[in-house]
Order: sequence, then structure tokens, then C-alpha cells
Amino acid sequence: MFDWKDEYSCGIERIDDEHKRLFEIGNSIYELATNENRVDYFDDILNLIDDLKEYTIYHFEDEEKIMEMYDYPGYREQKRVHDKFIEKIRNLDLEEIDEDTQQAVLKLLDFVYNWIRTHILGMDLKIKDYFESLKSGKFMEKKAR
Ligand SMILES: [Fe+2]
Repeated sequence: MFDWKDEYSCGIERIDDEHKRLFEIGNSIYELATNENRVDYFDDILNLIDDLKEYTIYHFEDEEKIMEMYDYPGYREQKRVHDKFIEKIRNLDLEEIDEDTQQAVLKLLDFVYNWIRTHILGMDLKIKDYFESLKSGKFMEKKAR
């Protein structure tokens, strides 16, 4: 479900690796939710959802650190969007998951997958452009000397 595509790469290895890890956790949740041999998997699903929450928080912090370090102009907007997403996944309705686990989990994954994809393509890739402009700027500086 969470298929990684090269177009998601923002050229910064550390961020790409973290995005890939998020995709992996998403896939593990999907596999568990759709595995027909599973019996009672409510607790396992909750644990994986916790992993997803924790890793997302870790990743956003890391990404924000990198943006701050390089004076990325879109930092504030990114942080605002990150915070909103964290608030959303922190306030998940676990009762809904208990009632009809598979349906609720698939709905959640659908939301998370679309959010991450759109976020990477719409916002994180701009970090790539910025880094590239920094690199070419440095190159010009050297050339001018
Ligand atoms: Fe981001």
C-alpha cells in the first residue's frame, strides 16, 4: 500500500530514509490489518499505531532541525503543518478502532498515506530545491573568487 517511489526523494538521504521508515511502518500496519490468518490483533495494531505516532514525531523534529540549520525559509509553515498532523494522530478515536478494527485501520492508513504523499510532494520537495539553490550559490561564490 505504502509504495515508495523515486519521485518522493528529496535528495537528503537522512530525510529520505526516515520517510522510507514511515512507509515501512504503514505497510506493517496494512499487512496485519489485511492478513486473514490473524486472530485477535487489536493490541498489535495499537502498538504499531504507537510506533507510527512516535516515529512521525521523531521524524518531524529531525526534519525541522535540518531546516533550521540551513535557514530554510519555509520552516515556520512546515512546522505548523507538522504540528497539526501530530495533533490529529494523537487524538485518534481508539473506540472506533475497537468496534470495527479493519475498517477503521484501513481508513486511518488511507488518510496517513495520502497525507504523507501529498506532504512530501508538496512541501518536502521544496527543501530539495532550496538545498540545490544553496549548492549552486556556493559554487558561484567559489567561481567568483
Ligand atoms: Fe515535512
